[in-house]
Amino acid sequence: NRILVLHGPNLNLLGTREPEVYGATTLADIDARLAALAQANGAQLSTFQSNHEGGLVDRIQAARTDGTDFIVINPAAYTHTSVAIRDALAAVAMPFIEVHVSNVHKREAFRRHSYFSDLAVGVVAGLGPDGYEAAVRYALAH
Ligand code: DQA
Repeated sequence: NRILVLHGPNLNLLGTREPEVYGATTLADIDARLAALAQANGAQLSTFQSNHEGGLVDRIQAARTDGTDFIVINPAAYTHTSVAIRDALAAVAMPFIEVHVSNVHKREAFRRHSYFSDLAVGVVAGLGPDGYEAAVRYALAH
């Protein structure tokens, strides 16, 4: 069981970025917690963050041949804009869960549309860092 966790733009600033919206937990904290969870369950977990659309596309394409079974992705702002990342996930034809730290449905109207949700196994929003953990637990069980 090999899980790939992808974080989109500005998520490298978690912990300091709009803490009233995104909380005080850093991305390093989240990644460490997920790695420990996977390890405790005998699974492999890799994480990757990029502020660049093409970097995320390249990493998703690489997942086709690197043994990845399941993707957990927070596309961040690209959620609302990126046909390219959507197409990459469709191309690798791998199950994925879409995660958002904040509840995108109680924010600006433009955050309500996602290019990913109709392809995702499921969507988690508004649970803070716990949302990643819920997604990884699902991936471990399936
Ligand atoms: C986000 C929500 C997006 O609308 C926003 O652009 C982000 C983070 C979240 O995790 O809540 O950067 O994906």
